[in-house]
Amino acid sequence: MESPEVVKTTMMINLLTACLKEYTSSGQQVDFELFEKLWCFSFAWSIAGLFESNERQKFHKEVLERVGAALPNISAQRAFDKETVFDYFVDPKTRNWANWKPVEWEPPKRMVFSQLLIPTSDSTRAEYIIEKLRTLDEQRSERRKEVGLLNTLLVGGAGTAKTSIVLMNSTRLDTERYNFKRINFSFYTLPHNFQESIDSEVEKKNAKNYCPFQGKKLVVFLDDFSMPQINEWGDQITLEITRQLIDFRGFYFLDKEERGNPKSIAGLQFLAAMNHPTNGRNDVPNRIKRLFFSLNVPPPSDKAVEGIYGRILQELLPKKKYSEDVIGMVQPLVEATIQLWMGASAKLMPTPTKFHYVFTIRELARVFGGMARVAQASQYKVIQDCKNLKDVKDPKLFLIGLWRHECQRTFVDKLINN
Ligand SMILES: Nc1ncnc2c1ncn2[C@@H]1O[C@H](COP(=O)(O)OP(=O)(O)O)[C@@H](O)[C@H]1O
Ligand SMILES: [Mg+2]
Repeated sequence: MESPEVVKTTMMINLLTACLKEYTSSGQQVDFELFEKLWCFSFAWSIAGLFESNERQKFHKEVLERVGAALPNISAQRAFDKETVFDYFVDPKTRNWANWKPVEWEPPKRMVFSQLLIPTSDSTRAEYIIEKLRTLDEQRSERRKEVGLLNTLLVGGAGTAKTSIVLMNSTRLDTERYNFKRINFSFYTLPHNFQESIDSEVEKKNAKNYCPFQGKKLVVFLDDFSMPQINEWGDQITLEITRQLIDFRGFYFLDKEERGNPKSIAGLQFLAAMNHPTNGRNDVPNRIKRLFFSLNVPPPSDKAVEGIYGRILQELLPKKKYSEDVIGMVQPLVEATIQLWMGASAKLMPTPTKFHYVFTIRELARVFGGMARVAQASQYKVIQDCKNLKDVKDPKLFLIGLWRHECQRTFVDKLINN
C-alpha cells in the first residue's frame, strides 16, 4: 500500500512520542543514547513498516547502516538469518535493543480449535505497536483541536493472520478498562450501519457527549476495512463517516427529535485490517490513512507455522492420553504438511481458469482442524481405540491415514484437472 510521505512523517513523530511517553510518564530521564535508539525504531517502522520482509532488509542495509543509525548489534550468525532492526525493540529495563520474544501460550481449559491463537514473532511486533499507540493521549492538542492518533491499520495478503493478531490482542485487553467491538466491513456496509454499530456501544454522558459503557474505553476493530463500495464519484462513503468519527470525534444525531445536531463520542481506539490494494482490490483514501499507523503483516514463515501447529497438536495429543508412537508423529506430520503446502503454493499458481488455486495458512488450519476434531472426539479415544477396528489396528498408522485424508480433502479436492 502506498502512503504519502507526510503521513509517514506524522506517524514517525507519533510513534516516537508514544515510545518516549513510557519513560517520561514515570519521570525518567531520556539521554541522547536512548533517544537515538527510540528514534531509529520509530523511523524504521514508520518509513518501512509497510514494506515486505526483503525490502525491509534492503532498507536496513542501504539506508540505516549507511547513515550510521543507532542500530542493534547483530551478530554474523543472526545477520545470516536475515535479522534486521525490525526484529528488535528497545527494552526499557536495560535501555538497550532486545529481541522480540512471543509470550508463552497458555492452553485454555476448553480447547476449541478455531479459537486457538498462538503468538508468533509477527504477531508480537504488531501487538507491540498497537499497544504502544494505545498509550497516547486522546487529544493531541487541545488548542488546535487535534485528536491523538491511537489507531493502527494492518495491511497484508489473505491469510496472513491480520484478523488473528487483533483478536489475540483483544484477549489481552484489561477488561476493567476496555471493551472490544468487532465490525466486519463488506461491499454492502453503509454509513448508517456503521453509525448504528457504534451507537449501540456508547451511552449518554451529558447532553451531547457520549462515551463507551461504564466509563471504559472502547477498542473498535474494523475488519476488511477497504471493502465498502466505491460510488460513481470515486468515494467510499462508509469510510468517510468513519473518518469523520475518528477525526472529529463524533457524528450527527439520526433520531427524529435531534436529527442533525452534533454528537460527540470520546474514548475510542480503532484497529483495522485490510488486504493489499492490488489485483483490483480497493485502496482506502489518503485522508483516512492519515489517521492510522499502517503496518504490513508479512505472510507467516514456515518456522512460524511450524511453531503454531506443532504447539497446537502437542496440546491436542496429550501425553496422558496417547502412546509415545502417536506423539512422536506430531513433528513429522507438521513438517510434511508444511512441505506439501509450500509445494502446492509454488507449483499450483492461480490463473483465470484456476483462480481458486490459493494456498494460505487457512489450508493448514483446515488440515489440522480436521485432525483436531478426530483427536478430541469421544474423550480422546478414537485414535487410541483403533486397535478394535477391522482394518487399521495401529494408532500411529491411523493418525497418518487421518492426516492423508485431511490433506486430500483440503488440497487435492481443490484441483480441477489432471
Ligand atoms: N497465530 C496463530 N495461531 C493459530 N492460528 C492462526 C494464527 N495465525 C493464523 N492462524 C490461522 O490462520 C487462519 C487465517 O488467519 P486470519 O487471521 O483469518 O488471516 P487474515 O485476516 O489475514 O486473512 C485463521 O483462521 C487461523 O486458523
Ligand atoms: Mg481477516
